[in-house]
Amino acid sequence: MIELRDIHCVHLGTRDLDAAEEFCTEIVGLQSIKRTDTHLYLRAGKRHHSVCYFKGEPGDHRIAFELMDWKGLEKAMVYLKGSGIECGYGTDAESELRFTHAFGWFKDPTGNHIELWVRPTEANRPYHPSLRPTGITGFGHIGLNTTDPLRDQNFWLEHFNARISDWIGPAPLLRVKQTHHQFALFPTSGPGIQHINHQVDTIDDLLKFVYHLQERNIKIVFGPGRHATSGGYFLYFEGLDGMVYEFSTSDRMIIEDDATHRPRQFALEDESFCLFGSKPDIAEFAS
Ligand SMILES: [Fe+2]
Repeated sequence: MIELRDIHCVHLGTRDLDAAEEFCTEIVGLQSIKRTDTHLYLRAGKRHHSVCYFKGEPGDHRIAFELMDWKGLEKAMVYLKGSGIECGYGTDAESELRFTHAFGWFKDPTGNHIELWVRPTEANRPYHPSLRPTGITGFGHIGLNTTDPLRDQNFWLEHFNARISDWIGPAPLLRVKQTHHQFALFPTSGPGIQHINHQVDTIDDLLKFVYHLQERNIKIVFGPGRHATSGGYFLYFEGLDGMVYEFSTSDRMIIEDDATHRPRQFALEDESFCLFGSKPDIAEFAS
């Protein structure tokens, strides 16, 4: 079993780094930390970056988790190989591009490209958005595509310290630490990231974004609303290359006792996604 500390960041292929930089800084409010011919690194909190766009194909998504044990990469890779899971080590050059000391990768049963990082680089300066004070406190979680939620749920439960916080229909919301979820598996037809969440401090920060997005004709695809599962306030909107971005206040320390927490099953209905009655315009959330 492999122990994960947290989800760390995401790397996304795009054909247009200029558009990525404009969208992420002007609309999302991330801070552009570094830009090369091939890579754009964007900061949201205490990590070097939470989102990186690289020159490549849209839909080429990599998800990085930090290993709990910084000395544990070799053991993890031996475990994955021994379990018959497609995997490999990242090279030194690839680690340098990721701002991590070292990493390995594997494919989950859907074919998602997941990476295990050790000693990822921290931010040596605070996040400072050019947009305005955004209230963004850091990277939150992702929606991850699955072609078989039960199979992939069992994969994460068997091989990792993942636990289920709740289900909405067949979709499990999973955690590797004591906040509600770091990833959730949503059924669809192939691998990839379904949405990218950053946390904001207050509901006021969230509502300011509603008007900010509306003024710039950015399509809001869900919310503002409140999740029945985590109790968090949320707002989803359309991003570059069709990616859905989310802000929410949901990732609080709400799982008080791992040993006694009982995952709850919610029906696959609009009300399970939003207590207020907001309707999702997101295919994977359709009831
Ligand atoms: Fe979310």
